[in-house]
Amino acid sequence: MSDGKKKALFICLGNICRSPIAEGVFQKTVNDMGLGDKWEIDSAAIGGWHVGNPPDWRAQDTLKKHDVPYDNTARQITSEDFNHYDYIFGMDEANMRDLKKRAPKGSKAKLLMFGDFDPKGDRIIRDPYYDSDSKGFEKCYEQSVRCAKGFLEHLEKENK
Ligand code: 4NP
Repeated sequence: MSDGKKKALFICLGNICRSPIAEGVFQKTVNDMGLGDKWEIDSAAIGGWHVGNPPDWRAQDTLKKHDVPYDNTARQITSEDFNHYDYIFGMDEANMRDLKKRAPKGSKAKLLMFGDFDPKGDRIIRDPYYDSDSKGFEKCYEQSVRCAKGFLEHLEKENK
């Protein structure tokens, strides 16, 4: 039986940099709108290298700096996720290719690029893992704030 919640899963390559930031920001955005109990939100990785780990320290610092609570650890996407979630968001074109390859035939989830909901049109949420500083993490945070709002506004319009 469905619990009536909308379900969103945020994906990136390792689930320790971009998708935890996107997940935390999306959760905070719906909480601040009073819609926290209407959403089930999680994040996961394409690859299994960091399963069980907390986010990269730069992602944790960025979330803390912006008062976004986060205590999830990395997991890898499963084939069940494609029928559990309504929306699965990738961060870049490589994520989208991997998601399309892995989606079981006829599965429910809409596979969407998170950056397509950025009103500023900055479509790619770039992988900052190999950067020598935190700037890419801050940029990911800013993109996530715009995309979370942009997507929720898009849903509102769709439901009007
Ligand atoms: P993320 O960044 O996909 O934003 O979590 C990465 C984290 C780890 C790796 C690649 C990207 N890695 O190759 O271990």
